Parts: sequence; structure tokens; C-alpha cells
Amino acid sequence: MIDTPEPGALLAWFAEHGRPDLPWRRTRDPWAVLVSEVMLQQTQVSRVVARYGPFLARFPTAAACAAGPAAEVIELWHGLGYNRRALALWRTAQAVAERHGGLFPADVDLLGALPGVGPYTSRAVLAFAFEADVGVVDTNVARILARWCGRRLGRAEVQRRADAAVPAGCGWAWNQAMLDLGRTVCTARRQTCDGCPLAAGCAWGRAGRPDPDPAVGSAGVSGGQSRFEGSDRQGRGRLVSALRRSPVSSASLAEVMGWPADEARAVRVAATLLDDGLAVMVAGAAGAEYRLPG
Ligand code: ADE
Repeated sequence: MIDTPEPGALLAWFAEHGRPDLPWRRTRDPWAVLVSEVMLQQTQVSRVVARYGPFLARFPTAAACAAGPAAEVIELWHGLGYNRRALALWRTAQAVAERHGGLFPADVDLLGALPGVGPYTSRAVLAFAFEADVGVVDTNVARILARWCGRRLGRAEVQRRADAAVPAGCGWAWNQAMLDLGRTVCTARRQTCDGCPLAAGCAWGRAGRPDPDPAVGSAGVSGGQSRFEGSDRQGRGRLVSALRRSPVSSASLAEVMGWPADEARAVRVAATLLDDGLAVMVAGAAGAEYRLPG
């Protein structure tokens, strides 16, 4: 029997502070849940709220998305960043259409076998669409659990503890509450435990939060996003943004990517987009040009 956080206080906190207004919390449709969860990975809630409705209006089902061109999925991803996720989502939609007739299986292994669906996403769909009692572990939840236990946790233990913590029949609310708690109270740079509903049982909090923070180096706890300014990722983002408007000629590639004096870097980084399938190279009127796929 694993010692787990006392559920009443967290669920009461969520009832008071949770955000029922978030559109993905008003649906149990697995496709709509999947879209929200993929969009929310590494992107702020406010940005996702702005893009979520238009995306689902165009692609209300996995089958509709699978039948649409990848380029349109990438276009609708505008403003969310990490465009690889758009393509991965499109591939997931295709696999759901082909393997499961467009219906999502309520099975962690079958969900996890879909391209682009890892342990986090498969459990998020199970908990938030099917209301299953599984533990959803993202970086926020892994951080909470490591602090609550007062020591670094390995991957398997994080998942085991997350699963064991879910009160029976409360998979949906419990996991939404944990995600919110990690984003708003038990944050990476948290200065205070005031108002934390798990404070009473939290080993690290009770010990006075000694260094090192047990979340640092725990499995599943990310070290934060790397710097964007000046990165290859920035150049990739610029090129995809330009491709959403029109094809880009090889001659203007370096300029478009923001590296006018470094053509070699532009070509090298653009090649990673070609590899990912986020762009294709075709012969245009004035020589080779980059375009969004299909
Ligand atoms: N981050 C990841 N999943 C989320 C969800 N369902 N609600 C709010 N933020 C999230």
C-alpha cells in the first residue's frame, strides 16, 4: 500500500479554485480531449484557449482531421509553437481512423500504441474523456509528488504513486486538480506553501523545504524550456510561419529564417523540418522552393 496525499482537501480546493471555464473541461469527447492535451504540452493555457475552438470547428472528429491535408493542420497550429505536434496529431488521427474506425479505444496500451501518443497523453485521454482512475503525470504532477514524498523519484515510482493517489471514481477531477495545483501553487519557483491543500502531508514542506528541492532531477520533471531567442527552434518557427503564407524560395531561405549571413545554418535547420515532414521541397518557377506538405 503506497502512502498517498489525502484527497479531500485537494478536491475541495479544486472545487473552489479550479477553472470550469476551460473549454476542454466541458467535453468528454476523446478527440476534443486529445487535441487540448497535445496543444497544452509546452504552450500556455491562454494561447491554447484562443486556438482550440477554431481547430475543432474545422476538424470536429479524428476522421475529419485524417481526411484533411497536413498543411491545414499546421496552418491551424499558428501561435502554438512546436509545430511537430501538429503533424503528430494529424498522424494520430489517421491511425485512429485506420485502426479503430475513428473511435478512440479506452485502453492504455492501444492508446499508447498510436503514433504521437506517449504515457502522458494516453492517460490524459483515459482520465479526461473516459473518466478512468489513472494517474496523469506531466512535469507539474511529477514535481508535486516528489516534494510530497520528500525525495527524488524514479519514473516507475512516479507513475505508481500517481495511479495510487487517484481516489476511486474521481479520476477526472483529481487529475485536473493536480495539473492546476502544479501550475498555480506548487510551481517550479514557488516561494510559499500558503494555501496548498496538500501542505499537511507534504514531507518536503513539513521539513521546511530544505535544499535540494526533491523535484529537481526527479523523473518526469523538466528543467524548463531552453532559450528560444537565437535558437534553431526560432528559425524553424519563422520558416513554418512564412510557409503558412506562401512557398519560400531557396534563395530567400536564410533571410526568412532570420539568419541572412548564415545560409549554411538555414539549410541545415530547414533540413530538420524536411526530415520531420513539416515541409517539403519542390521545383518552383524560380528554382527549388519550400512548401507545407500536401
Ligand atoms: N495542462 C495539461 N492538461 C491540462 C488540462 N486538462 N487543463 C489545464 N491545463 C492542462
